[in-house]
Amino acid sequence: MNFGLRKPVLGSLALVCLAGTALIHGQATPQQARPQATAVTGEQKPLLAEEAFKNIQVLRGIPVSQFMETMGFFSASVGESCEFCHGGSDSGWDKYAEDNDIKQTARKMVLMMNAINKANFNGKREVTCYSCHRGGDRPVVTPDLTALYGTPPPAPPPDVVEAAPDAPAATQILDKYIQALGGAQRVNGLTSYIAKGTTSGYGEKIEKRPLEIYAKAPNEHTVINHTLTGDSTIAFDGRNGWSAAPDTDSPVPVLALTGPDLESAKVDANLAFPGRIKDALSKWVVGYPTTIDDQDVQVVQGTSPGGTTVTFYFDSKTGLLSRIMRYTDARIGLIPMQVDYSDYRDVAGIKMPFHWNVTWLDGRSTYDFTNIQTNVPIDAAKFAKPAPPVTVSAKPAAK
Ligand code: HEC
Ligand code: HEC
Repeated sequence: MNFGLRKPVLGSLALVCLAGTALIHGQATPQQARPQATAVTGEQKPLLAEEAFKNIQVLRGIPVSQFMETMGFFSASVGESCEFCHGGSDSGWDKYAEDNDIKQTARKMVLMMNAINKANFNGKREVTCYSCHRGGDRPVVTPDLTALYGTPPPAPPPDVVEAAPDAPAATQILDKYIQALGGAQRVNGLTSYIAKGTTSGYGEKIEKRPLEIYAKAPNEHTVINHTLTGDSTIAFDGRNGWSAAPDTDSPVPVLALTGPDLESAKVDANLAFPGRIKDALSKWVVGYPTTIDDQDVQVVQGTSPGGTTVTFYFDSKTGLLSRIMRYTDARIGLIPMQVDYSDYRDVAGIKMPFHWNVTWLDGRSTYDFTNIQTNVPIDAAKFAKPAPPVTVSAKPAAK
């Protein structure tokens, strides 16, 4: 199935990636990233991969959401769909438990990668699957003379923004943004909103489907995507978060978000209210300006108390937000996600983006909002744990 990727992967991970956006760059050793911390923070207990699945031998001790992010990272690293390692999957999720040579090789690769990092980098995650594979199943061995002397491809955005000397203060850029949106008074007066519109993916998923976002200050936030096969939901009630998806998209219907995934849901919820941006993140770094579609943008990176890092790209002329990049620390590596915002329209005196392009490792979606209502009452149930979604498709699961 799936959308824009050269070799399609799986839509399901959309959900995890939309929720999970932490960056603890280079610091997350396996031990640190383990979910033990939950007892201290009072988080919900995560469902671990080995509890949910039948045949987990090396990726044990990680929550299911992180496990699925790892699968997305594997796919992106070798540039192949899930089927490359799991064979045809018409028979549903059970098929994924079966072993074959490629899957066994991938297990060995995990151990090799851990051994390399341990032996050479004090266990710090310096080498990942992507370091060698770069989107191919067989890493390239010989330097490519064509690439050496041809036009270099555009450099990927850095996950850690380097501070530019003589850059303006972050607060100056953030204040300009708030001003561009309608000014602090209006922006701070935003207490809730309901945004309705459509989302459409690529390939099989090009069909427009209804989408809703509910947001309540200071930090309750729910996104519901009515997909062809059932509702896909990310909910955060100000403290706890969940993801829910139909069987076609996720092997587990409702998952409690924990660790970096929960932190990121919280950041999302805070950032739904631009007036909270300076409360939600700190440790601001202003990088070198760059361009997006030939427009000059200013680059500002902030980090949340729990370690989620977000890079903001503000249009230098208008001051409005053009893009955010976020990184989920899925232990195996960082999972980037990008949202591009455009078509800003005035809603009760505040500029809001009506067109979003959302890109993650396994797919791309376009959100088009048709109606945004502000400062409306929203039932608390909208932010509570979602019910297991009903899978509407007659198709076999997990294609
Ligand atoms: C590069 C190879 C590779 C790719 C690509 C890959 N996987 Fe996996 N997958 C594995 C390995 C290896 C395991 C077993 C992990 C272990 O033993 O700890 C696994 C296990 C699983 C399991 C657990 C099955 C069970 O019951 O034991 C699921 C579910 C799964 N993968 C889903 C996916 C999905 C969905 C994708 C596509 C996004 C995907 N995988 C892509 C290698 C891969
Ligand atoms: C240090 C470099 C390096 C790292 C890191 C690495 N690989 Fe590999 N991988 C290779 C090489 C080289 C081959 C090809 C071996 C061959 O041709 O027989 C390979 C082969 C594979 C294959 C078999 C491909 C095929 O077509 O048979 C899979 C699957 C794979 N790697 C998955 C992974 C995954 C998943 C990770 C991360 C956990 C990873 N690799 C990390 C170097 C690496």
